[in-house]
Amino acid sequence: MEKMYHIDLDDAMIEGAQVVLMPGDPFRVEHIAKEIASRFGGETQKLAWHREYCTYLARTGDRNFLVTSTGIGGPSTAIAIEELAKIGVRTFVRVGTTGAIQDHLEIGDVVITTGAVRLDGASKDYAPVEYPAVADHNVVSALIEGSRAAGIAYHVGITASSDTFYPGEERSDTYSGYVLRRLKGSTDEWSSLNVLNFEMEAATLFTMTSCLGLKGGCITAVINVRGIQGESVTRDALEIGESNLIKASVAALEFL
Ligand code: URA
Repeated sequence: MEKMYHIDLDDAMIEGAQVVLMPGDPFRVEHIAKEIASRFGGETQKLAWHREYCTYLARTGDRNFLVTSTGIGGPSTAIAIEELAKIGVRTFVRVGTTGAIQDHLEIGDVVITTGAVRLDGASKDYAPVEYPAVADHNVVSALIEGSRAAGIAYHVGITASSDTFYPGEERSDTYSGYVLRRLKGSTDEWSSLNVLNFEMEAATLFTMTSCLGLKGGCITAVINVRGIQGESVTRDALEIGESNLIKASVAALEFL
């Protein structure tokens, strides 16, 4: 088999790994792979880094795991899922950061998403809007068990996946400061409908994995609580969130 065009991997390179953890940020990949090796034993190897797609293999003795970054948003995530599925990966777990829109969530808590509001565009190329963007229930259970095992506070529920960080998440601290009429009040509306958080990839991942017969999950760490911190994200919040996220998601691998 030839190497996949974007991710620069072929089936032999991944040595039978069927589960991938998928952060958005390529610079988070090595850190996650090392946490897998430190928790389960074994070693890590950098396999490829092309554009936003950085991949490490973690060999733990009895199982191999992949960690591949998606970049930000649905379109780049869809490419990663397509190409990884073609070389044999079957379980896709997004491991990211998020802005909470419920005040009872705190910085550093994790959100385990059961279903995503499809505010993205990419998922519409895979299934009509009536098709639900839902996680695989076994992956949800494993993420819950992993968060418990790692001692990280977690919340389970619905996430809204937008295509833009700024207007799509109703931020007005932008160049123009303008938010379209149809997006004004959208945060309050999703919050009233018991949506927990905003992020940018879960809807694409869940729609694709469900309609392609694959398994999908999503765990994100809260780095901003919109009703409390407003629109901005601080470096400290990011550090706490990333640390908890990595501990909980890696602990979940034991239950997958
Ligand atoms: N990711 C998002 O999409 N929104 C946030 O507020 C934080 C991370």
